[in-house]
Amino acid sequence: MRQKVLSLLSSAGKEYVSGEKISLALGISRTAVWKHIEALRSEGYVIHSVPKRGYKLVSVPDVLYPAEVSQGLGTRVLGCKIRHYHRVDSTNNAAKKLAEEGAPEGTVVIAEQQTKGRGRMNRSWHSPAGGIWMSVILRPDVPPHKVQGITLVAAVAVVNAIKKVTGLVPLIKWPNDIFLEGKKICGILTEMKGEVDQVNYIIIGIGLNVNSDFRQLEKEASGAGTLAMYLGKNVDRKSLVREMLSQLEANYFHYCREGISSILNQWRQNNLTLGRNVVLKMGEKYFAGVAEDITPEGGLLLRDHQGCTKVFYSGEVTVTGMT
Ligand code: BTN
Repeated sequence: MRQKVLSLLSSAGKEYVSGEKISLALGISRTAVWKHIEALRSEGYVIHSVPKRGYKLVSVPDVLYPAEVSQGLGTRVLGCKIRHYHRVDSTNNAAKKLAEEGAPEGTVVIAEQQTKGRGRMNRSWHSPAGGIWMSVILRPDVPPHKVQGITLVAAVAVVNAIKKVTGLVPLIKWPNDIFLEGKKICGILTEMKGEVDQVNYIIIGIGLNVNSDFRQLEKEASGAGTLAMYLGKNVDRKSLVREMLSQLEANYFHYCREGISSILNQWRQNNLTLGRNVVLKMGEKYFAGVAEDITPEGGLLLRDHQGCTKVFYSGEVTVTGMT
């Protein structure tokens, strides 16, 4: 009901809407209307009220509330349900719990801050206010070895969304780190539950440094950057979440229907790894060579300096120079 009160106010634009009109439109008492207005105010919505004229929505908070994100979200499945937290340990943990409880494909978990954000390789992920910390539940009908491909789908979706909303041009470092001018602005953690031949669910966790204080961020996570730092102003996080979800949905549906090849091409066009001399660290071992290509499963094809090729499915890549 609170959402309905909000959408009546926002569709009135700069006009006042009387308490009576809202109560008639929604079939609730004037006292109930007032209670919803107070609840919205406590969430950070600024609503002016004038006797005999009613209520006017003056500003909305910079918080990724589901009602805000859903407005104008043109997806069919992704974002069908959005769970929002001001603070949570990790959106991937919360999404996993929901998936175990049977949450449908497309359920999204978003947090303003994470207290135990997790990165790849058991690293922690610093997640202060101002970023986008979001996990999406997918239930694709693909065998487990194809799941890595879906992380490429996600990386391409994030890059396309950033380009569209900000005009900035980020690049992907294998497998799915997103960089702008040498600084990491986004990481993706894909987790899966399944059997040998079948995927039960996948959680795609996206951590995007958007408007957080970048000096503070650099102290906590060296080599990290934010979108705002390159744009010189804050980015509208709601538009960015919507665009990421719609790009992710389009790419994901395409991948399920047609396979990986066009996504791979987009990945190739937007990457900073291929054709470079790299060192890949896997556990305690290092492999040096030229990053030749990406395989349909999302593996990195390395040619070592003796000319032997090997495909890697995990590891940390450092780009050492042009070939
Ligand atoms: C990486 O190591 O680069 C991946 C980082 C992924 C961070 C995101 S933030 C949202 C989601 N919740 C988590 O705990 N991790 C992912």
